[in-house]
Amino acid sequence: MDWRENAKKRAAAHAVRHVEEGFVVGLGSGTTVAYALQELGKRIREENLCICGVPTSSQAFLLAVQNNILVTTLDEHPLLNLTIDGADQVDEKLNTIKGMGGALTREKIVASASKVNIIVADETKLVKILGDSQSVPIEVLPFAVSPVVANLKKMGGAPTLREAKKKLGPVVTDNGNFILDVNFGPIEDPAGLSQTLKGVPGIVETGLFVGMADIVYVGGKETVRRLGSKAE
Ligand code: A5P
Repeated sequence: MDWRENAKKRAAAHAVRHVEEGFVVGLGSGTTVAYALQELGKRIREENLCICGVPTSSQAFLLAVQNNILVTTLDEHPLLNLTIDGADQVDEKLNTIKGMGGALTREKIVASASKVNIIVADETKLVKILGDSQSVPIEVLPFAVSPVVANLKKMGGAPTLREAKKKLGPVVTDNGNFILDVNFGPIEDPAGLSQTLKGVPGIVETGLFVGMADIVYVGGKETVRRLGSKAE
């Protein structure tokens, strides 16, 4: 296993220590969260815990089932004890860009239903400023793709429709929508950009997560660092 996989695994293990008996947990998506779900499954088995989770994607749903994590919904549990999720970039204020796995909309809904949000990542995800060499994934209604693209260009963005790898045509999200990966360059004001984007008709959600993360576990070559001071 290369150092990044080890770093992701260790960061994930730290996050799972926050889970307590009876918790309802938001289950994020991505390769780092996959380690967290393995670890959570292990704790459930070994400590005989009663934990259930709200998956943020088909990937998270299948991983929950494979790891014997009971699955529930926001209808049954509208308030979650905590959510563990990954990120594509994390800045010094713990703002993040998410959505390279296409699950950003459900991830944001689950995060906003959660009392505590924990991000797990390896240290290559840490940046001074979001958007430097990272596009912002934006989920868009298929009906609205062309006008949204025109709007994004007017705003100075360079959008690319995300293409599927093993199917012809665009990626279709778990919600039946398309993803635009939009290069804005370095983003000086993530909150302002996020608000402006949300005002564009046809944009369902953006991968800019501003002020949402409480704790970030960052895996390095040897250690795991905790950023954020919120006590849960
Ligand atoms: C899924 O849509 C994303 O938000 C992921 O959480 C993010 O891309 C991080 O994924 P990795 O842990 O695989 O890097």
